Amino acid sequence: MPPDDQQPPSPEVVRPQPGIPDEPEGSAPAGRAAAEFDAGAPVGPTPQMDFWRAVYERRSIRKFKSDPVPRELVDQLMHAGIWAPSSCNYQMWDLVAVDDAATNRKLAELSLQMGNAPVNVIVSYGRDFSEEGWANVQSASALIQNMSLAAHVLGLGTFWITQMGDREKVREIVGLPYDRLVIAVVAVGWPKFAPKQGPKRRPLGQVTHWNHYGGRPIPSSTRPADWEPDLLSIYQRARVLNGLRHNKPRAWEVRAIDALLERWVGDGREEGARDKRWLDVLPCTGIVSERIARARPGYRYDVAERTPEVAEFVAARVRGQIRAWPHADARAGFAAPEDGAYDVVSCLYRLEDVAPAERAELARALARWVKPGGRVIVGFVSRASFHDWTEKLRARRGGLKGVEYVLSPDPNIGPFESLAPSEIERALSDAGLRVVARFGQQAVPQPEEIEFRARNFGPRKKSIARFAGRVLAALERLPGVQNARGRFRYLLLERAS
Ligand SMILES: Cc1cc2nc3c(=O)[nH]c(=O)nc-3n(C[C@H](O)[C@H](O)[C@H](O)COP(=O)(O)O)c2cc1C
Repeated sequence: MPPDDQQPPSPEVVRPQPGIPDEPEGSAPAGRAAAEFDAGAPVGPTPQMDFWRAVYERRSIRKFKSDPVPRELVDQLMHAGIWAPSSCNYQMWDLVAVDDAATNRKLAELSLQMGNAPVNVIVSYGRDFSEEGWANVQSASALIQNMSLAAHVLGLGTFWITQMGDREKVREIVGLPYDRLVIAVVAVGWPKFAPKQGPKRRPLGQVTHWNHYGGRPIPSSTRPADWEPDLLSIYQRARVLNGLRHNKPRAWEVRAIDALLERWVGDGREEGARDKRWLDVLPCTGIVSERIARARPGYRYDVAERTPEVAEFVAARVRGQIRAWPHADARAGFAAPEDGAYDVVSCLYRLEDVAPAERAELARALARWVKPGGRVIVGFVSRASFHDWTEKLRARRGGLKGVEYVLSPDPNIGPFESLAPSEIERALSDAGLRVVARFGQQAVPQPEEIEFRARNFGPRKKSIARFAGRVLAALERLPGVQNARGRFRYLLLERAS
């Protein structure tokens, strides 16, 4: 049986190799003074740790004590790093370890991620060197992994930073020449806490194959039609197992939700109101659900999801119960929501990632779960808005894309497409729901979003973006614009009969 995502292999299955004879004389580099070559032995203290423990127990550490890290230890890590393999053994890496607080502050201005540890090691590689097959990046990555493991053995913590803001600025701050490409930054320090449990791994059997690929890959497409429902379940389960690190609410999305609640939903503690129930459908990471539960604590929450793991993740955020979406696997304790039981049924930004074939089914389920006299709230990203334009602009920009904002508004939860308001209204009406009210929010990119997206721009481009933002904000104030062109569209519905 392959080890699952939590179990390292047991020592019994490992057979020691018989002795390997030494390589014949003459194959080692000859004719140079020995001092020109590194000895290939540790340059500092050598606490022992079982190799397998080091591999399985190393975790990314992001909170550090302020205590300094002795330079000898940082040298030792870097030394373990340079003993990693590199393409053709060219070793075109250059590392700059920064323990100067003022320089680290400058780095942190580019990305807060570099403001966590007393030492940031900037890892660079020859920019145009060994580019074929990304061998430059692969070589630097091998070095980083060696450093991370060595740090763990020494009791130090590291985390690997790619989100460093403008990497050319990072390069300039530490004085690396243009022909060094900054690949990543490794933050190094003494861990503040030992992480109780790290992000889990997908099981070996799901991601490895012998001789011939025999699986079904998680699609890299963002089109819902390309995703089988079970693959979406697997993917979303993996996302929540990683915790919230990559699933943070954006300020402008939170504002839109607040506006929605303000307009349509009382606090659940109105006079005579008792035991009001709210079902949140397909909340995935629960970013929006948590906001709602905080703002409207008078309700009792249930969450309907595809898998118990995702449902439990969200239920913990809203102190609610888990319920199964119709396609969910029927495992014990994971029952479908009761029909006609809910005062409020919400489905916010989830019709966008459901395959078109499933949307009508989802609409029917919403109609079934709401009480007579109760309300259904549907929120979605409208195709009749600027949303798709921003995505097109991003695609046109070319080059490497960031991991975030492939999907919006809740990145990294799977496929996503904006929806035509008329089609959604038709699907909901076919399902037996009647629109009571509708409104739109944010017809233009909001100032926080412009700041966020322009965060890596130079000062000139940044001020142009801000100026454009102010002009657009004035347009947004014209009457009717938000309702007609808002990126976020909300519908308040009730059962038609
Ligand atoms: C190529 C690469 C880039 C990463 N970039 C970042 C980053 O920019 N910020 C961050 O907090 N973690 C970053 N990480 C750390 C991952 O989030 C982390 O390794 C992953 O969640 C698994 O957790 P673990 O390292 O504790 O096992 C990166 C890791 C890799 C391999």
